[in-house]
Amino acid sequence: MNLKKMVAESAVKYIQDGMVVGLGSGTTAHWFIKKLGQMVKDGLEIKAGATSVESEVLAKELEIPIVSFEEIDHIDVTVDGADEVDPGLNLIKGGGGALLREKIVATESRELIIIVDESKLVKQLGKFPLPVEVIPFALSITQQKVEELGCKAGIRVDQENGRFKTNNGNVILDCEFEKISNPEELTQKLNMIPGVVENGLFINLAKKVLVGYKNGNLEILGRSGE
Ligand code: A5P
Repeated sequence: MNLKKMVAESAVKYIQDGMVVGLGSGTTAHWFIKKLGQMVKDGLEIKAGATSVESEVLAKELEIPIVSFEEIDHIDVTVDGADEVDPGLNLIKGGGGALLREKIVATESRELIIIVDESKLVKQLGKFPLPVEVIPFALSITQQKVEELGCKAGIRVDQENGRFKTNNGNVILDCEFEKISNPEELTQKLNMIPGVVENGLFINLAKKVLVGYKNGNLEILGRSGE
C-alpha cells in the first residue's frame, strides 16, 4: 500500500470551492497535488500558490490555477508533508530543501494540514537531521556558529550537481542534533545567527496532522484545545 498516496488523497476533503490553497512540497505533497488536479478537472474552483518550483510545475501541468503570493491577500489552507512530527504537532521539515518557502506559506495560512505516514511520528524531534537554510557567503563561518549550538552541520550535496542549491539560491546545512529538547529555544538561537535564513523547525504551526498507517488506518491528530 502506498501510505503517502493514501494519506495525501484523504486531505482533499478539506478543500472547498473558492479557497486559496497552499501547495506543499515533497513526495507526499506530490500525491495531494495530483488528486487536487483531478478535482479541478472535475470542476473544483480554487486558486493555489506553490511552495517550490517543483510543486508549481506539477500543478501547472495539471491545470490547477496557480497564483503568485503577490496576487492574494490570504491563504485558506496549506497541505504539506513533514520529516518528523512530535506529540505536540511540532515538526521538522525541509528534507526536500523547500523549508523557507514552506514556512512563509505555513505561517500565513489560516490552517496548516500536515500529511505523513506513520514513520514520521517521533517522541522527540531531532533524529532526522534538521535542515537549516543559509546564504552561501562566508559559509564556513555560519556553519561553525551553527555547530556551536551542539550539532554536526553537514553541507547538503546534490548527487548530480554537487552542492545542493535551494529555490532561493541558498545552501542547506543538515544538522545532526540527535535530540532537540527545546525546539522553541533552538529555533530562536539558529535564526539569530547572521547568515541563517531559516530553519526547518515548525513550532505551533500545524493545526492537524493526518497519519497513514501500514494497516490501512488513517488517524487525524489535532492540536489539543482546538
Ligand atoms: C520539503 O522540503 C519538505 O519539507 C517535505 O515536506 C518533507 O521533507 C516531507 O517530504 P516527503 O513527503 O517527501 O517525505
